[in-house]
Amino acid sequence: MAAVGSDLENVLVGERELWLGGPPHELFKRLRGECPVHFTERITEFPEEAGYWSVTTAEDIHAVSRDFRTYSSELGGVTAVSAVFPIELTRAMFIGMDPPKHDRLKALFQAGFTPKRIADHEDEIRAIVTRVLDRLEGRETCDLVTDVAQPAVSRVIGSFMGIPEEDDAVWAGLMNSTLGAGDVDLNPDGVEGAMRKDVPEIFERCRKLIAERGERPTDDLTSVLVHAQVDGEKLEEHEIVMGFFLLVAAGNDSTKATYCSGMRALMESPDQLQMLLDDPSLTAGAVEESLRMFPAFAHFRRTATADTELHGQKIRAGEKVVMWYVSSNRDETRYEDPDRFDVTRNPEHQAFGAGGRHFCLGTALARLELAILFEETLKRYPRIALAGTPVYVESPFINQLKTLPVTLGA
Ligand code: HEM
Repeated sequence: MAAVGSDLENVLVGERELWLGGPPHELFKRLRGECPVHFTERITEFPEEAGYWSVTTAEDIHAVSRDFRTYSSELGGVTAVSAVFPIELTRAMFIGMDPPKHDRLKALFQAGFTPKRIADHEDEIRAIVTRVLDRLEGRETCDLVTDVAQPAVSRVIGSFMGIPEEDDAVWAGLMNSTLGAGDVDLNPDGVEGAMRKDVPEIFERCRKLIAERGERPTDDLTSVLVHAQVDGEKLEEHEIVMGFFLLVAAGNDSTKATYCSGMRALMESPDQLQMLLDDPSLTAGAVEESLRMFPAFAHFRRTATADTELHGQKIRAGEKVVMWYVSSNRDETRYEDPDRFDVTRNPEHQAFGAGGRHFCLGTALARLELAILFEETLKRYPRIALAGTPVYVESPFINQLKTLPVTLGA
């Protein structure tokens, strides 16, 4: 807890106003130095909700992430604010389960995401990105979020799951509204509207696809899930629906966020952009540095299962514990000059989580997709430049730009 009388004592870390221009990096820097495990008393928007502990250093997040017995994903949800997504829905996804249930389901999904299986999709992903860029032919400007990132990531995850291409835009709208709850541009009808209209529509569409694949299997992941067996038993329909939802949500929001923020950093650091143009073998480094500096999810959360202590701070059973990756990925004890974007740094980072049971399932897909997006965009538009002010999604959870205007310089 912040020292009594410190101005950090009353800071509400996830408060919307602090995040309008992106993550509050100066605040996190102070927290890491002065109060690495900090308590936020309340959530102004949801006054009935409990506050939370913020964990801000890489070492402490590592400790929390690996100790699922003390820090549960199932007990209370996986985001700081519980009100935006019903707990029963979170618990039906393996991201919101603890072992052993979690492990059983994850193992099944893992089979669809092995590095080999993902690598087999490289040509297909490159063809998707190329087609998206082809649509910019003749244009001088575009918005990288809506014209490139969104259609590309929607088609990639859509093709994995077997979503028909003509439905991509509808799925993207539904996912953006559900995950962007709180941002009026992405979610005009508010959390209540998303739960009333969008979530039921998502489930209805999932069920329809699952029923189709039950009758006529194809080689997509939905078919794999429908016909998979764990210990001789098939998955229940709701397990498939929620797994499907989790994958489409993760595939929709994550890579889009990191690609756009990484492109912005390149355009704002001409020396780094030039290095990458001169030596495309630095692409993998640009991907890792983008993941480090701009983790797509600002945080994930756990709930303490018992009274415990972290970094000398007592935490009580039932309290929320939020791991801020946006902070740990700039931890000055791990990185020299952490706010500098450096494509040669090749950092380890916690963008995909800090190890442990819930480590991201989609790392191989995300890395491949990001590399292809950077490569193909820069091959075609080496003189790409910012053409206006990028705007962040208003969220302390999804760390994402909603608009990134550029001149293509074709
Ligand atoms: C830039 C890209 C991505 C980032 C930064 C990212 C980040 C993360 C993080 C931080 C977690 C840990 C959640 C926790 O600890 O509670 C996670 C879990 C997960 N991610 Fe990703 N992700 C990315 C891409 C993807 C993609 C493309 C997919 C699949 C389509 C995916 C699927 C998942 C799943 C299923 C989990 C839950 C794993 C579990 O609970 O065991 N992710 N991701």
